[in-house]
Amino acid sequence: MQRNHNHPKICTVEKVIDETPTVRTLVFSDDVMANVLPGQFAMVWVPGINELPMSVMITDEPGMAAFTVRRHGPASTGLYNVKAGQKIGVRGPYGNSFDLKQGRLLLVGGGTGLVPMMRLLTFVKPEDDVTVLIGAKSKDEVFFEGMAENLLKQNKHQVIVTTDDGSYGNKGYVTDMVDKLVSENHYDGVYTCGPEIMMYKTVQHAHSKGLFVQASLERMMKCGVGICGSCCVGEDLVCRDGTVFDGKHLLSNKEFGHFHRNKAGILENY
Ligand SMILES: Cc1cc2nc3c(=O)[nH]c(=O)nc-3n(C[C@H](O)[C@H](O)[C@H](O)COP(=O)(O)OP(=O)(O)OC[C@H]3O[C@@H](n4cnc5c(N)ncnc54)[C@H](O)[C@@H]3O)c2cc1C
Ligand code: FES
Repeated sequence: MQRNHNHPKICTVEKVIDETPTVRTLVFSDDVMANVLPGQFAMVWVPGINELPMSVMITDEPGMAAFTVRRHGPASTGLYNVKAGQKIGVRGPYGNSFDLKQGRLLLVGGGTGLVPMMRLLTFVKPEDDVTVLIGAKSKDEVFFEGMAENLLKQNKHQVIVTTDDGSYGNKGYVTDMVDKLVSENHYDGVYTCGPEIMMYKTVQHAHSKGLFVQASLERMMKCGVGICGSCCVGEDLVCRDGTVFDGKHLLSNKEFGHFHRNKAGILENY
């Protein structure tokens, strides 16, 4: 029988990997989720707690998928605390994906925003010259650096880490490095996912140099399928029209980088 992607599939978490003191990857078996496109997401039901939107992480085993979760409030902490052998419900995939250019590419990820960036790396061509920028608050919160290096071993590439406090890699905000790189180099495509202020500045810097840039947005999601309106950014619904949007379109949206809606749907400043 064909699977209805709007019905949660009950999956058993098979492995849990600690990435940082606050981030874990939960690996499970699912052919559909193993093959999603970069930028697509799933709605993940943590029984007895809540359902939350999550990007789908790659794994190195065929037919396996994963979620990389940072513990935050009740839902993400509930998912973070799921142990190997326990079950979660997974529906989707939902949303569009990045429009991958060829040539010289710049990927900018912060925190769990690195999840779609890692999947995007599995789609680059061997002849692409790829720079990955990883932004973190401090050394403890750096993850996926080794994975990015490994995924790009066939390519001309560099993986650059910035930390806000300078405890690892380059000191400073990742967006200052974006500004430097786009001022010194031409890129055929710039892609970003992470905290909205990081994406906003990345889009601004890249767009100001006339570069093609896309960002994958996160908004409060309840239904995940374009019904409840909770994920709107201006006229756009992130779950239905995104999560990936072109930089030019985003910069014309007055909410991007400035406002988001809380759980009650009220517009708040970032
Ligand atoms: C498309 C998409 C992909 C995501 N991928 C990941 C991922 O790979 N890893 C990860 O750790 N997190 C991811 N998130 C964020 C994650 O869904 C939220 O951090 C989580 O829902 C927070 O819930 P909470 O109860 O733990 O926190 P709360 O204490 O309730 O809220 C903490 C923060 O999370 C936001 N938030 C709360 N509920 C939701 C919700 N239902 N939808 C979106 N944001 C919410 C709040 O606005 C607030 O800023 C993603 C979000 C979206 C929209
Ligand atoms: S989450 Fe309900 S419309 Fe997008």
